[in-house]
Amino acid sequence: MRSTLMVYGHRGSAGTHPENTLVSFKAAEKAGVHGIELDVQLTKDGVPVVIHDEKVDRTTNGVGWVKDYQYEELCKFDAGGTYSKRFQGEPIPSLDDVLAWIKPTSLRLNIELKTNYLPYPGIENKIIALLHHHQLTDRTVLSSFNHYSIQRINQQEDSIETAILLSDKLVHPWEYMKRTGAKSIHIEYHALDEYLMEHTTKLQIPVRVYTINSIDQMSKVESMGCEAMFTDYPSVAIHRND
Ligand code: G3P
Repeated sequence: MRSTLMVYGHRGSAGTHPENTLVSFKAAEKAGVHGIELDVQLTKDGVPVVIHDEKVDRTTNGVGWVKDYQYEELCKFDAGGTYSKRFQGEPIPSLDDVLAWIKPTSLRLNIELKTNYLPYPGIENKIIALLHHHQLTDRTVLSSFNHYSIQRINQQEDSIETAILLSDKLVHPWEYMKRTGAKSIHIEYHALDEYLMEHTTKLQIPVRVYTINSIDQMSKVESMGCEAMFTDYPSVAIHRND
């Protein structure tokens, strides 16, 4: 039976390549994913860059906050060597770089706005402008744990899908999400249940689940009728039913 569950490479192919780098996104594409997921923060001079943490320490050879570096300074850090020597010299990409790469592919895109810890004023407008510039509004979903970010996007833009990110069970999220204008739910695996799926299926609200790395969990989310899953192992996910 052909699966309808879509596969998004989480931070590219984070289980096999340095997360949120171009080499990781390219590996996910090569594995045959339907889409990729990435995280965006802002530099001191307001450039949207693709990195998960507010600080560069965990994933690069640098130290300190993304917000305290000019983009040109941030470009000097190595975002590949801490993962493996094989990827030494891989830079932190700008969002502009990644969008330029993704444009000629057929990949879908999920951009997570990392505004749940630092507010990054203006980040929503910058991302919207870049998506229009690269004509990627129709295959992108914007998500955030900061639902005010989602609300801000929907107050000014109706051509880009948005999703609320949930790490825990909410009471009737399909009602709550109306206040934000979001059209879909991105949810942590352990917060997913049949009750949520029953209601969201009836209401035609897409549910996408993170981060699914075992075959058992892949089969479970597939049988529950989720639209997509985010995985660190795109190749495993794509070939799970071979
Ligand atoms: O967007 C789904 C998932 O990526 C959220 O988790 O850890 O990447 O912020 P995280």
